[in-house]
Amino acid sequence: MTTKMRPLVAGNWKMNGTRECLTQIKAIAEGVKGPLSEKIEALLCPPSTLLYVSTALADDSPLAIGAQDCHQDRCGPHTGDISADMIADCFGTYVIVGHSERRTHHGETDQLVRAKAAAAHEADLTAIICVGETAEERADGRTLDVLNKEICASVPEGARAGRTVIAYEPVWAIGSGHTPTAADIEAAHAFMRARLVELFGAEGQKMRILYGGSANPTNARDLIRIPEVNGLLVGGASLKAADFLAIYGAYEQLPA
Ligand code: 13P
Repeated sequence: MTTKMRPLVAGNWKMNGTRECLTQIKAIAEGVKGPLSEKIEALLCPPSTLLYVSTALADDSPLAIGAQDCHQDRCGPHTGDISADMIADCFGTYVIVGHSERRTHHGETDQLVRAKAAAAHEADLTAIICVGETAEERADGRTLDVLNKEICASVPEGARAGRTVIAYEPVWAIGSGHTPTAADIEAAHAFMRARLVELFGAEGQKMRILYGGSANPTNARDLIRIPEVNGLLVGGASLKAADFLAIYGAYEQLPA
């Protein structure tokens, strides 16, 4: 059974984008205006240097703006970090936490990711909590074990569906041009849905589970048809407005 909910198409710009890219954000903000926005939510997470100006650009658009990470504390001596409160202060409404690039390159643990998600909730932001296996874990047949461990340890106790999104991003699929088969994505999402329901009851039933990893305008139509895929988290293909809007527009052809 597929859980029915308002899907989310989210773009993660990672460490890309300077002021000259604001034209792309403006085009996305304009492009998502229209009847589809009532059914499908759109979100863009630019680098934090563009956060405030992006929320201003998207002010009259249904496009939501979020950040790519936050510190677990509200303020303090953490040079270079930004807090969830600061994101909210810039009118951001989402924050990605636990992206594999942060888990790998910044040594972030499940416990830290959970603290960051809790900080996001405290600031009334929606946390997009990323999980996913490496190529090695996949080859060892440990994909579901990894997802289980990361979901159990990275999602804060008492998490609510309205403020929590899970993103399944197989590490090996990110930026590689490769995606798992539809059957593998379906199995992973079904497993995560069952675990979320066990852990969070009715809230777990309503939490959106996004797929991320080499999603693009060509494969989006197939990815969004997979049961329990409640949206996409898009990296490289979100940098160009036309590509992001093509992915978002794939939902137009999806039968209700
Ligand atoms: P790509 O879409 O570039 O593979 O990146 C996915 C991702 O990491 C989004 O968070």
